[in-house]
Amino acid sequence: MTADLHSVAAEALEAVSAAPDLAALEAVRTRYLGRGDGELTSFRRGLGKIPDPDGRRQMGQMVNELVQRVGDALDERQRAIERNARAQSLEMEALDLTRPAPPLRRGRLSPVTLAAREIRRIFGLLGFEAVDGPEVEYDRYNFTLVNQPPGHPARDSQDTFYIDDWRLLRTHTSPVQIRSMLIRGAPQRVIVPGKTYRRDHDATHMPMFHQVEALCIDEGIAVSDLKGSLEFFARSFFGASSVLQWRPHHFPFTEPSLELELACVVCHGSGCSVCKYSGWLELLGSGMVHPQVLRNGGVDPERYSGFAFGMGIERAAMLAWGIPDMRLLYDNDVRFLVPETAIDGPSERSAP
Ligand code: PHE
Repeated sequence: MTADLHSVAAEALEAVSAAPDLAALEAVRTRYLGRGDGELTSFRRGLGKIPDPDGRRQMGQMVNELVQRVGDALDERQRAIERNARAQSLEMEALDLTRPAPPLRRGRLSPVTLAAREIRRIFGLLGFEAVDGPEVEYDRYNFTLVNQPPGHPARDSQDTFYIDDWRLLRTHTSPVQIRSMLIRGAPQRVIVPGKTYRRDHDATHMPMFHQVEALCIDEGIAVSDLKGSLEFFARSFFGASSVLQWRPHHFPFTEPSLELELACVVCHGSGCSVCKYSGWLELLGSGMVHPQVLRNGGVDPERYSGFAFGMGIERAAMLAWGIPDMRLLYDNDVRFLVPETAIDGPSERSAP
């Protein structure tokens, strides 16, 4: 019996040191020290059969000692496994807070946003207040009240996203002229940057683009005010040495109408594919607000006159920064959205 006891104890100790993890260790504990039927603890049951009391006591002590020793070995092995697991996880999660962080790939403001802010800033210097209007607009405001009644050729429905018989996505920012007159009356000076929509999609057209509208109404406003303000704007935005020219034009809502052109930024006027060999790039449409449009906005054309202009912001940004493809403005490519300080053109300043 003694020999058996020792060999079982030796086997138990060996199993303890071989147990790779806590689950295996628990199995060893149950197998040898299980209450009643453990391979080691069950030796206690045999004690009663030993007739000699001294022998029984000695044997009992030995069983207890071995149970104790295997129990201690189990506890020690458990602590070792736990220590190991902790050391391993610490190593795996090691975090060196002194290491330099990898460089951040930061996005930047889009050239469209930068250009809109710069336009607002320049017109702010001339006393223009930036205002807003709805992108879902009534047909009446977008067309009829700016002298394009139903049937007017400039309404070409091919170009317009209609929502229902009355509403559409505004095709220009000019409806805000009417809204602003109805809200602010005269005199007023407002600038309206915003999204506009046309059913166009190719290399130089997007179905959504941005325009900026300006409206200046007061007593005695003349074409000279229009030209002075817009030349000041163009030289501030495109550079003091920009070469500009005015051309007569036609819009239903201005009379007379003028178009401002910029000497081609690529060939400087000698003619190239960008300016279609004309030497000039169309920049914006403008004119003196038509008396009927003033009347539609509740402004008395006998007393007041005004000028207005409308310009594509994408186009202005492309011309200012030499951006060759409009789609670059919408791709969110961080290689394109370079740091503001690296942009060679209008500087980014805080918006009004
Ligand atoms: N609304 C015109 C356009 O989209 C631009 C414009 C605005 C022209 C104001 C004259 C006056 O082309």
